[in-house]
Amino acid sequence: RKYSSILGIETSCDDTGCALIDLNGKILSEALHSQNLIHLRNGGIIPDIAQDLHRRYIKPVVDKTLEKADLSMSDINAIAVTVEPGLPLSLAVGMKYAKHLARKYQKPIIPIHHMEAHALIARMDHDISFPFLTLLISGGHCLLAVAQDVNEFKLLGQSLDGAPGEVFDKAARRMKLRNIPELSQMSGGQAIETAAAKATNHDIFKFPLPLTETKDCNFSFNGFKSTALYHILKKEKEHNIEGDQVIPEVNDLCLAMLMGTTRHLLHRTQRAMEFCEINNLLPENKKQLVVSGGVACNNYIFKALSILCEEYDYKIYRPQPKLCTDNGLMIAWNGLEKWRKRIDIVTDLNQININPT
Ligand code: KG4
Ligand code: ZN
Repeated sequence: RKYSSILGIETSCDDTGCALIDLNGKILSEALHSQNLIHLRNGGIIPDIAQDLHRRYIKPVVDKTLEKADLSMSDINAIAVTVEPGLPLSLAVGMKYAKHLARKYQKPIIPIHHMEAHALIARMDHDISFPFLTLLISGGHCLLAVAQDVNEFKLLGQSLDGAPGEVFDKAARRMKLRNIPELSQMSGGQAIETAAAKATNHDIFKFPLPLTETKDCNFSFNGFKSTALYHILKKEKEHNIEGDQVIPEVNDLCLAMLMGTTRHLLHRTQRAMEFCEINNLLPENKKQLVVSGGVACNNYIFKALSILCEEYDYKIYRPQPKLCTDNGLMIAWNGLEKWRKRIDIVTDLNQININPT
């Protein structure tokens, strides 16, 4: 054995990710195959296509990871793999391949919760101790939780309908941002952030704040989607827009939408902070907020959250952008965190399966 390490495999959505990390937490190698551009062309993720692509790329991505580190399966202590939540067809590919490797090379499997991995990866580059508050914002999820330990998360609230990234992606598509050359290769969220930076007047578009009356930490995003659609249709009519044309106020609309969603995220995070205070969930002298998930790449949202954190005496952390979006390293890291605590190291492969919900 050349090196003791953990292999991480991620296939919960549309990225085939793999990484190797040694038992001291040193990154040995990473590989990622992203389906983003294919799904952009199709106007959204088609589960069958996502599965086909995972099937096609899982072996090359894992092989490449091992090759880059100049290691073989015999150097690996355990295989960490995402088992929940995610698209059932996508999760199944990673699970099946992890089990195949585990059987062939006699390795234990460490099952990983995708959202927990989004939160914990912040601990790789930053000195963050348990417990901490976490806001996880992505294309499929939006939630607030207190991370109390590696495998102990207290859910404070979550989205009652869509997710912020999903709403950005759908609105971006409807605004035809792909037809603006500068934005054509970006995810919906990134395109909206970039367009919003060029806005001159956000006052012309109103986005009502949802759930203002409910005293919990839940979220709702579908209202932003329908309000965006309403504004787009109205402007398209006004300007007689047809075909591939984009409305002239597109930058202003992007900023108004970004501001609306940011206000909602802030409003609920503030409630979570107050909930933690009342229930003594965080130490008085060390209050920490971890923001992660693809939407955490957004600098406008992060800046707004930073101001809230200053107000409430929290330290704010977010992983570097490529670790906010889906990747294999966060799964390997979570595997290592579990390995160090000797939890969830499974040798009986019949005991583990995917749990998509
Ligand atoms: O975490 P992630 O890679 O996949 C899921 O688990 O969903 O997040 C992908 C989402 C996409 O919806 C994308 O539009 C969004 O993250 N995203 C952003 C930005 N970059 C990516 N949203 C807002 N601003 C960004 N800069
Ligand atoms: Zn994710």
